[in-house]
Amino acid sequence: MHFQWYPGHMTKAKRMMQENIKLVDLVIELVDARIPLSSRNPDIDELGHNKARIVVLNKSDLAEERWNDAWSRYFEEKGFLVVKVDSRKGSGMKVIQNVIREACKEKIERDKKRGILNRPVRAMVVGIPNVGKSTFINALAGKACTKTGNKPGVTKGKQWIRLNRQVELLDTPGILWPKFEDQKVGLRLAFIGSIKEEILNTQELALEFIQFMHEKYAGVLEEKYHIEADSESYATLNGIAESRHCLLKGNELDTDKAAFLLLDDFRNGRLGRITLETC
Ligand code: G4P
Repeated sequence: MHFQWYPGHMTKAKRMMQENIKLVDLVIELVDARIPLSSRNPDIDELGHNKARIVVLNKSDLAEERWNDAWSRYFEEKGFLVVKVDSRKGSGMKVIQNVIREACKEKIERDKKRGILNRPVRAMVVGIPNVGKSTFINALAGKACTKTGNKPGVTKGKQWIRLNRQVELLDTPGILWPKFEDQKVGLRLAFIGSIKEEILNTQELALEFIQFMHEKYAGVLEEKYHIEADSESYATLNGIAESRHCLLKGNELDTDKAAFLLLDDFRNGRLGRITLETC
């Protein structure tokens, strides 16, 4: 499977990011816990090189806990502060508040030395499309937040959400563009649904996914779809089509539909917690 992807609007996203990042002290980078490296854009290291940094393993509810822990250690060893969260449920939000405080300590100290008191630390959330940025901002900010800036009739500017006395969050996240020269990275992004389906062949993608499952999560598909164990991917896809009654006219198996169902089950956690990329 070979595909390339770099839509034009990502160039615009990069420009926006360069502008916005100048306004903040802290960058909160969301990655998908199922593919923590493949869902990163390494350019963020250069863009945010003199900023405080936090890596958030989002959607940690969909990934295996032992790998969430291993990835946390991985990023910690690289010098990042790391938090695992499930933004949909809101778990991990208390921890992240503390970690934000910790990340900002240095900056607050520096301000103090220069005689600047009570200037809030400014933060922004960044990540590739669909990684959960909006869900995360909503969970973190909650209902109690107050927005500042951009008041009607006053100066036009950015909207900031006041998280507490010390921290303000930019209300629009920075969109990072997925980056992959390596086809394996592209494939993982496609598995989690971060690459538009129109440019991919769903069935081919499902066959690649089945192969991965056979190698790393043997037996899971067989148990879920009540099908016989078979190491051949196409036979498994046929088995899924049969067990899910995906049929075309004339009772022919609709493997396209089965492929779609399988990927949808995976993306929504119905195959259990699965980590696609390990460290
Ligand atoms: P974005 O701003 O980065 O583009 O992502 P967004 O918040 O729109 O989230 C993309 C999808 O990921 C949403 O699902 C959202 O509910 C889901 N999501 C975000 N964080 C988590 C998490 O920690 N765990 C899980 N399991 N899911 C998460 P959707 O199906 O597109 O929308 P919806 O039906 O949930 O509204």
